[in-house]
Amino acid sequence: MSISIKSAREIELMRESNRLLGEMHNELAKMIRPGISTLDLDKAAARFIKDCGCVSNFLNYEGYPGNICTSVNEEVVHGIPKAERILKEGDIISIDAGMIYKGYHSDAARTYAVGKIAPEVQKLIDETRNSFFEGIKKAKAGNHLYEISNAIADYIEQFGFGIVRDLVGHGVGTSLHEEPQIPNFHMKRKGPKLEPGMTLAVEPMIALGRGDVDWLDDDWTVVTEDRSPAAHYENTILITDGEPEILSLV
Ligand code: MF3
Ligand code: CO
Repeated sequence: MSISIKSAREIELMRESNRLLGEMHNELAKMIRPGISTLDLDKAAARFIKDCGCVSNFLNYEGYPGNICTSVNEEVVHGIPKAERILKEGDIISIDAGMIYKGYHSDAARTYAVGKIAPEVQKLIDETRNSFFEGIKKAKAGNHLYEISNAIADYIEQFGFGIVRDLVGHGVGTSLHEEPQIPNFHMKRKGPKLEPGMTLAVEPMIALGRGDVDWLDDDWTVVTEDRSPAAHYENTILITDGEPEILSLV
């Protein structure tokens, strides 16, 4: 098992790829409202990525048909954008996206409310995001990888939400998915030691009910088994000697 350490030049390219992605997320966030389709979001993302001189790293990934993933309500991740999937008041939507800039991948996800939503669902969104920040407090050189996993799990468990265990975070760089895998649940082992220059996608996926998931017949869309709503929050981070740098948050 080996986790790649990025050079100073590679870190600059990771910064730029992820800065562009962070800006795209901010643009897409402004479009979220009742009446918009998930395909409208996909088209806007495709245009943004093209205008940056980048390409989508999701499109054609193992045959994935979208530029981004749009997952509504009980859909956890990998929802496929569609013209007929129109957002309505009370929905939540997770947008997961990435791009390749000069050979370097970015990856980040956000969950948004569509209009007014139930307070417990807003809490799910907020605490999923907060769990990311709790996790990355442990993301510094010299610590071990699963300290991040355990911090996320400890934080989420106090609310009784379900942690999705079938999908995990990952290293990211010249490929979308590099070593290591980064669980969001408790690990008994310590995991690999963190070193400066590692770039990691940390991405808690949390359900209001239980964390068990199913795959729909399209073989992509991951939904909660109990069909409770789920939230996702992800950034690509850089391990340093001090605080981690959150590359995809601008
Ligand atoms: N962003 C996802 C991840 O975090 C990967 C999506 S791959 C796709 O690992 F094919 F579904 F787009
Ligand atoms: Co990811």
